[in-house]
Amino acid sequence: MSHKIALIGFGTVGQGLCEILIDKKEYLKSKYDFSWEIVAISDPVKGSVYCSSGLEVEKLLKLAATGTSLEEYQCQHDNCKCNFGWDALKTIKDSNADTICELAFTNVETGMPAIDHCKAAFESGKNVVTSNKGPAAVDFAGMQALADENGVKFMIEGTVVSGTPIINLVDGPLAGCEISSIKGILNGTTNYILTQMEAGMEYSTALQKDQELGYAEADPTGDVEGFDAMAKVIILANVVMNTPITAKDVEREGITGITPAMIADAKAQNARWKLIGSIEKTVNGVKAAVKPEMVPMTHPLAGIMDATNALTFATDLMGDITIVGAGAGRTETGYSILTDILAIHRNN
Ligand code: HSE
Repeated sequence: MSHKIALIGFGTVGQGLCEILIDKKEYLKSKYDFSWEIVAISDPVKGSVYCSSGLEVEKLLKLAATGTSLEEYQCQHDNCKCNFGWDALKTIKDSNADTICELAFTNVETGMPAIDHCKAAFESGKNVVTSNKGPAAVDFAGMQALADENGVKFMIEGTVVSGTPIINLVDGPLAGCEISSIKGILNGTTNYILTQMEAGMEYSTALQKDQELGYAEADPTGDVEGFDAMAKVIILANVVMNTPITAKDVEREGITGITPAMIADAKAQNARWKLIGSIEKTVNGVKAAVKPEMVPMTHPLAGIMDATNALTFATDLMGDITIVGAGAGRTETGYSILTDILAIHRNN
């Protein structure tokens, strides 16, 4: 049976996911016996369409690429039963999807509207896969409890460092290791800016170039002042360290105070400024921070340049393990959604 998927939000991530699903259709079938159908897309700007028998994804991508409403979609089925104009909650509750991909624009401080979308999905017996940081950063324990209560999955690999395996690495291959600290470059935009500043570029030009490359948040203050990295630190503390911290528990400082002189001074000391997110287990819980640190060149994180992300886990059985990879991007975040959907399929 095909895995039925509904997308809430059809921006870069949703479109990236659809492109991968089309490109890898045969491979996913032969390697994992995984077949899929997109049954619904609901986007407040691009429009909404639902077909319980499955939508033709190529057509939807074309509509999105040409700025045409999804409600212009022409169904290929005889006796078409397409519904148009359903909002997110109706799509979540009333579609026949097995899994809701929650990819709507969300306020990271309140977690809304994604929290309401996740709750509605769980209460309707549907899994949620999301790259949205809001629900996990604001109420990971509540979301997980509601998913468990309803016998469905809450999958969040894409919330931290896109498809580079972090949450699934800790849950899967590193199961059995206790992790005493995590230290990482969790934001691509700030690392890109610091890299370009070291090469002589002005801060504002570097930020503009980063925005052109599509790494920055819609409001880049979230990146340069450390809010984006802070949300990831909160998620990691909750998921990896099982400690329910919130924003008020994280010391936060961005990179706007870093000057070219400070970068040159670090270089002279064989070091580099990096925006580091850290979580350390303590006797009282955890100590969590996001702040610029001068990292010695001998540390693996010092060599991480441009928009690449990296995390070092200190483990009891394996010592330090560092994972390096993309932290953002259309395909990379689209892939984070695919890897979670595949995990649901493979565990069923
Ligand atoms: N704006 C983020 C970054 C994207 O630059 O890393 C992923 O959260």
